Amino acid sequence: MDKLLIEGGGKLNGTMRASGAKNSALPILASSLLLEGKLSLSNVPHLKDVTTMIEVLGSMGAEISLDDDMNFEIDTSNLNNHIARYELVKTMRASVLVLGPLLAKFGQAEVALPGGCAIGSRPVNLHLESMKKLGAEVVTEGGYIKAKAVNGLKGAEILFDTISVTGTENVLMAAVLAEGKTIIKNAAREPEVSDLIECLCQMGARISGAGTKELLIEGVHELNPTSFKIIPDRIETATYLTAVAMTGGNITIKDSRPDTMESVLDKLREAGAEITTESDSINLKMDSSLKSVDISTAPYPLFPTDMQAQFISLNTIAKGQAKVVETIFENRFMHVQELIRMGGDISLAGNTAIITGNSDALHSAPVMATDLRASASLVLAGLVAKGVTKIDRIYHIDRGYERIEEKLNALGAKIERVSG
Ligand code: UD1
Repeated sequence: MDKLLIEGGGKLNGTMRASGAKNSALPILASSLLLEGKLSLSNVPHLKDVTTMIEVLGSMGAEISLDDDMNFEIDTSNLNNHIARYELVKTMRASVLVLGPLLAKFGQAEVALPGGCAIGSRPVNLHLESMKKLGAEVVTEGGYIKAKAVNGLKGAEILFDTISVTGTENVLMAAVLAEGKTIIKNAAREPEVSDLIECLCQMGARISGAGTKELLIEGVHELNPTSFKIIPDRIETATYLTAVAMTGGNITIKDSRPDTMESVLDKLREAGAEITTESDSINLKMDSSLKSVDISTAPYPLFPTDMQAQFISLNTIAKGQAKVVETIFENRFMHVQELIRMGGDISLAGNTAIITGNSDALHSAPVMATDLRASASLVLAGLVAKGVTKIDRIYHIDRGYERIEEKLNALGAKIERVSG
């Protein structure tokens, strides 16, 4: 099993390019199931989760080709089944994103229940209830979601009592081919949801309200082939900016979208970083001492839960005491025990972490990655810790960060990937 060895201590300086957004690529890949013909995609990140979604689509008969620049072409003309198998779904919860498109296109879908997950129980009840509202019969049997809409899906009003990103995306993909109008109330406003909407509209779907809490979808009979470029990954960008806020230095991230990450940029400024932005690039300079920052996670446009772990790392070496509240997932503090092993002064009570910072707090230790963003927080800690930090189980990080050691080493980090 691969491990990362990180020698901490140096500043990071230089320019990098943001990768395409994982959380936009996954639903957009799933949306290819709705099409008659081919979907061409560029800026798809080279990640384990993307490979898994491609395997899910391939197992249904989709033909996928890829050129040297990672431009994908997905041809769904010869789909031959509507089943997302457990062996694939168990490795990635987001596989549930094929439920809506399969139901819309074929009137039936069988998708393995995703099961448990390192960051909480993460149920799929909202996905199932909304498919029922659209007229599907849904049962869970033998570990599978089995859904049928013999007479096709019908538009409906769907109110989410909890904001759900993939839940909103599943309903969007089901409703675009349903008969009549669908209204989604309390929809997720994440930029990745808006990116999916833009791609679906390019295929000929009729959706209004992107970026707001209420989405209106008017069903159409079919969607057409198109080419689409995935938006930049705001969480990847924010992770590297946080790394430089912690190590000190100067970084420019090109091909990024600062307008999609204002809550994080505000917090990095509060921590002492100097940040300037252009429409598609961000520069961060850090030459002052790091100040602690309180955060509370919430749906977009507020502070993302996918940056909570990285900000706990930041706070371990910042001046002052910080309070970090996790309001989205109930068990998303697995990184805390590992950061304590590296010297962090962190106490946990329910959904709140209290971190007392100290610029010399972190030292190397063997640690274990437990989920995707938790792993990122350990890499950031390793970059500033004294000595060589060994991070085990880094397959988690490869699910969501493209060539992380290559990108950070180009800025001056000393990270080595070793096997065994
Ligand atoms: C997506 C993102 C993930 C991010 C999360 C929150 C993708 C592929 N993943 O995950 O990176 O951390 O949004 O921003 O886009 N819930 C229910 N019932 C459901 C669905 C969700 O109770 O049927 C709850 C969840 O347990 C959680 C909350 O709703 O407490 C939000 O989860 P949700 O937005 O659905 O997360 P994902 O879409 O799985």
